[in-house]
Amino acid sequence: MSTSPAAEAARRRTFAIISHPDAGKTTLTENLLLAGGAIRAAGAVRARGENRRTRSDWMKIERERGISVSASVMTFDHDGLMFNLLDTPGHEDFSEDTYRTLTAADAAVMVLDAAKGIEPQTLKLFEVCRMRDIPIITFINKMDREAQDPFELLDEVASKLALDPSPLYWPAGSGGRFKGMLDLRRDRFLPFQKKGGGGPDEDEGHPPAVAFKGNAIVSYLEPDEQEELAENAELAMGGLKAFDPQAFLEGHMTPVFFGSALRHFGVDQLLEGLGAYAPPPKAVAARRNGEDIHVAPGDREVTGFVFKVQANMDPNHRDRIAFLKLCSGRFTRGMKLKVQNTGKQLSVNAPMMFFASDRELAEDAYAGDVIGIPNHGVLRVGDSLSETGTLRFAGLPNFAPEILQRVRVKDPLKAKHLKRALESLAEEGVTQLFRPSLGADFIVGAVGQLQFEVMADRLREEYQLDVIFEPSPYAEARWITGEKADVEDFIGKHRSAMGADIDEQPVFLGKSSWEIGYVTERFPKIAFHRSKERA
Ligand code: G4P
Repeated sequence: MSTSPAAEAARRRTFAIISHPDAGKTTLTENLLLAGGAIRAAGAVRARGENRRTRSDWMKIERERGISVSASVMTFDHDGLMFNLLDTPGHEDFSEDTYRTLTAADAAVMVLDAAKGIEPQTLKLFEVCRMRDIPIITFINKMDREAQDPFELLDEVASKLALDPSPLYWPAGSGGRFKGMLDLRRDRFLPFQKKGGGGPDEDEGHPPAVAFKGNAIVSYLEPDEQEELAENAELAMGGLKAFDPQAFLEGHMTPVFFGSALRHFGVDQLLEGLGAYAPPPKAVAARRNGEDIHVAPGDREVTGFVFKVQANMDPNHRDRIAFLKLCSGRFTRGMKLKVQNTGKQLSVNAPMMFFASDRELAEDAYAGDVIGIPNHGVLRVGDSLSETGTLRFAGLPNFAPEILQRVRVKDPLKAKHLKRALESLAEEGVTQLFRPSLGADFIVGAVGQLQFEVMADRLREEYQLDVIFEPSPYAEARWITGEKADVEDFIGKHRSAMGADIDEQPVFLGKSSWEIGYVTERFPKIAFHRSKERA
């Protein structure tokens, strides 16, 4: 077996699933893990979720609202390939977290509900993928329910996403009349067999594929159904572009799969497609000593970037885990890595890999892999790590906080405790923390309202702090930069509207967007930034 960093990287498939809530992302995740042999029975993801919830009560929100608020990674080895599935939160309030997770994905599976097509959140997430040149595989889910006409669904993909859909399979019917699908490349028919109305376990094992033109097909399709499927398949192949892997990698085309995640149908085919077409990690743009370079997965030096930090995954240990996407080299446990912007060196003695049911110590890892590094605040989202510490990957921007609220702890004796807790949560990077120059309040900035609720819940569960979020006098925050003298002059003139973030960077807190416009015009030497790229 080859273990060169380039060969190992070539067998990595690191991907995320994007979808509108309810399209079936959780169900598909579970069934992909099942198809990949990572779990034995469907239902395990949920069971694990329940366990996690009993350990960490803030997940109550997740359960009550039926949305997923935590992102994580799951690794499984299948068919000679290592799959790293990045789980992205589905709710729009968490777009920043999702955005960051997508910076670590080399491909994405877009799940569409066959009855609903492209929904608002699908579109938003798709745009992030396009911005980052992430190739997209489409999975049209819930074919076992009444679906829209597949031609219409593909038209919608073409018109709303400006992406050429190229079906690799074609469905025979939907809902109660869903019979299976035709493999357009191999001219085989994959029968769908719904056994009873019970849970997913009952639906394991659909009949094996049969030749579409052979005799066995009569067991699964009536003659008129067979004719209709043949016609539709011909129309699809004639009217839609044939799959071109290069166009897919360049983001112009999406291969389309159909299926039912719940009935474990079409999932093996999707996994096979991911293995065959999703790209391994590619070279990444970076800077070293003032020069633009590209870091290739096979390069000797171990490099990577932190795309997510999660505090208190285990509330008993107050641990903080930085998720590092490796970009090159062969990482081995115990290795020393340096953080580019702080110069701090770190011995990575307990790196973790995350499997469906467990975390394990990672003895080695390669480009494409994601390792969790427990640390005490040394690592932040956007940090670049490498052996030399001289390399910086293109920055991961902080999304602009759109709502600013004041936070107060009910028990005033716990004010100091609050400061530490807020800083710790802000270091995860999902919310921003500002300390105005005047007064003792803390201002929390978030992309959406729900984040405040999650934060209040977490402060209660993880830090035993009861807090109240109140409207703040501020409407918008702007990081300011410029020549030192100009910045000092500006700060001097606006002391009552100034604050600092957790890195002590100066931030202008405006009471209205009008005020922001006003200062921007009056102080042309100062640059006002809606979000911060960590230097
Ligand atoms: P999400 O993570 O994208 O939000 O979706 P999730 O997988 O939780 O699925 C949303 C609902 O759709 C679930 O039903 C799930 O069982 C159902 N579903 C997912 N895939 C399929 C499919 O292929 N066919 C059919 N018929 N249903 C599917 P629920 O009733 O909301 O939840 P539950 O009570 O089943 O857990």
